[in-house]
Amino acid sequence: MKFLSIDFETANDSLMSACAIGSVYFEGTNPESKNSSLIKPPIFHRKLKEENFNTPTEVYKKIPGIAKLVDVFAPDIGRVHLLRVDQGGFFPPHRDFHGVAPEYFRLLCVFGKCKPENFVHMLNGKPMYPDPGFLYFVNFQLDHSVFSFSDGLYALILTVKLNQRTTDIILKNTMAE
Ligand SMILES: [Fe+2]
Repeated sequence: MKFLSIDFETANDSLMSACAIGSVYFEGTNPESKNSSLIKPPIFHRKLKEENFNTPTEVYKKIPGIAKLVDVFAPDIGRVHLLRVDQGGFFPPHRDFHGVAPEYFRLLCVFGKCKPENFVHMLNGKPMYPDPGFLYFVNFQLDHSVFSFSDGLYALILTVKLNQRTTDIILKNTMAE
């Protein structure tokens, strides 16, 4: 199995303060080569916020199921990530950037072949197996990682503004169970 692990660093909680990128190429469990580069962060006069990253993409337009879920939280939506992970793919342990909380929180929905035998999502040192199709609040500022043993795993991550309206949506749907 061959894979490339990439680590991207920011200098502070600004999304535009990229300062270093590192990568390690693995064949099996052996690191075959590694690289790292420093990046001079661009100087911006304003700090970008979540709401600067909510322009609808082609994926949003082409997959009605995703648009429907995102629209539930609009206009209180920030970045939305759709990740595909295949066999051997993984995210090494990390914490998401500090800029999310307390104004925003993140929700996770897995689908595709995300069954317990196909992947493990580690959160704060403990395995977590989200059921496909359900929306989970996950504190991604805790240490987390993902390991995949199958092709075709998908994860949708919504960044949502924390306010009365969005918490009401979640509580209302939780209570409906
Ligand atoms: Fe993460």
